[in-house]
Amino acid sequence: MTEFADSSGWLFQFLAGAAILFIFAIGTVFLLLVLVFVSDVTQRKDAVRRNFPVIGRLRHFFTELGKFFRQYFFAMDREEMPFNREQRNWVYRAAAGTDNTVPFGSTRSLQPEGTILFANAAYPDSDFYGADAAPLVIGAGCRRPYAALSFFNISGMSYGAVSRPAVRALSKGAELAGCWLNTGEGGLSPWHLDGDCDIVFQIGTARYGCRTEDGALSPERLKELAAHDRVRMFEIKLAQGAKPGKGGILPGAKVTAEIAEIRGIPVGEDSISPNRHPDIANDNQLIDAINRIRDLTGKPVGFKTVIGEPRWLDGLFEAIARRGQGCAPDFITVDSADGGTGAAPLPLIDYLGLPIQESLPRLVDKLNEYGLRQRIRVIASGKLITPGPVAWALAAGADFVANARGFMFALGCIQALQCNRNTCPTGITTHQRRLQKGLDPADKAERVWRYHRGIEAEVGIIAHSCGVHDPRMLRRRHCRIVTDNGATVPFEKLYPDVTPPAHHDL
Ligand SMILES: Cc1cc2nc3c(=O)[nH]c(=O)nc-3n(C[C@H](O)[C@H](O)[C@H](O)COP(=O)(O)O)c2cc1C
Repeated sequence: MTEFADSSGWLFQFLAGAAILFIFAIGTVFLLLVLVFVSDVTQRKDAVRRNFPVIGRLRHFFTELGKFFRQYFFAMDREEMPFNREQRNWVYRAAAGTDNTVPFGSTRSLQPEGTILFANAAYPDSDFYGADAAPLVIGAGCRRPYAALSFFNISGMSYGAVSRPAVRALSKGAELAGCWLNTGEGGLSPWHLDGDCDIVFQIGTARYGCRTEDGALSPERLKELAAHDRVRMFEIKLAQGAKPGKGGILPGAKVTAEIAEIRGIPVGEDSISPNRHPDIANDNQLIDAINRIRDLTGKPVGFKTVIGEPRWLDGLFEAIARRGQGCAPDFITVDSADGGTGAAPLPLIDYLGLPIQESLPRLVDKLNEYGLRQRIRVIASGKLITPGPVAWALAAGADFVANARGFMFALGCIQALQCNRNTCPTGITTHQRRLQKGLDPADKAERVWRYHRGIEAEVGIIAHSCGVHDPRMLRRRHCRIVTDNGATVPFEKLYPDVTPPAHHDL
């Protein structure tokens, strides 16, 4: 009896305490709501909050939540930007090495104007299924030419924009895949050399990793870089598709002590590179820079740009023709207006430059027109993350495709759109150790390799269905484009192949 009275007394006290706490919590919440209400009705900056105090604030909350939930619940498979669920899932499946067949039928609408289709061969080869690509030499005239094994490669993403485990996984993955890894403009870090992969060293406008103290190009540093066996080529970055006319932007939050040291800049301050190379203000200066770097390094040198007014190419190629083909770049990387970035101003992302669907065929045509097609290799980039667009780029005339965001998806990117902050939830574009923990370089390297393998295999399948034995044998005649009345026309009708001039005309 006494025991029961003891325990019921304890229970009563507990319930009374809980009730007081509950009333206190409700009171506090009520008081907070009153304060928020008063603050909302008395402020003058936000009309919604003044007219709809308290609940008006939920707008921001739901807008923020929408970003995260849209892709799971509301967006259709093919409607999100920059990449829809169907594209992302293809990469995820390829990277996981799971079955990449789909059931029932296509969810891709084949009617919209501009849709690309391939023309299948009536009688494809019966004794093999997928076509392989042969290695291709870049810079045959250099002291150290580069025989590139793969037509599909990793596009520039600087160490700084992406994290240490991400760079390690890309490096190891590139080694397994036999493709190159472009450093991006942030210099060569030890993590790029984690795997034994081929490296393309990018020279950005701030010359990170190859600059003197006052920001000029350092010949000594270039020679040191070229002495690395793995550094195969040098790419001068004139512009990237997401921000033509603007240098790289690495927000201060991402400038750690290590990154500051690799780049040669102060810790924690925004790292903003100049809008162009100080010594490259015209075509002749570009040709001079290419030749200076090639002489110093002995390795192939090219440049990366997004094309704006295509007539610019006439001036450049005329200058090359005047000075002789020997002075030409060994490659040109053409980036699409809708290419990706770590951080860029919206107007530049949305409005500047030509998309790859136009700039690539125009570049190839100009190279043919000036008899430079055999001399200069073409690398295409910009949303070429699944087999169809990659095969299209090869058919349009690209020798290689470079890809950034597809490899980010292979690393586990969920398109959270946080690359410009230091908060990437998958550890790819953040330097917070807590978030990087989720990205295991060894596991992700295998995913990079399998994604690469998936692209090569399925581009090969398209090539085979079109009746050719090597993806680089795809031609414009193998593509058809849907027009405004729903009928297709051959791609070569939009961009007729240009015949190179006879040798004596050059
Ligand atoms: C996180 C991130 C960082 C990038 N950093 C660079 C860079 O340092 N230099 C560069 O030329 N391009 C950079 N890019 C652009 C890519 O190299 C590529 O040109 C562009 O994203 C288009 O290819 P994609 O559609 O395959 O991503 C970056 C892109 C991303 C997403």
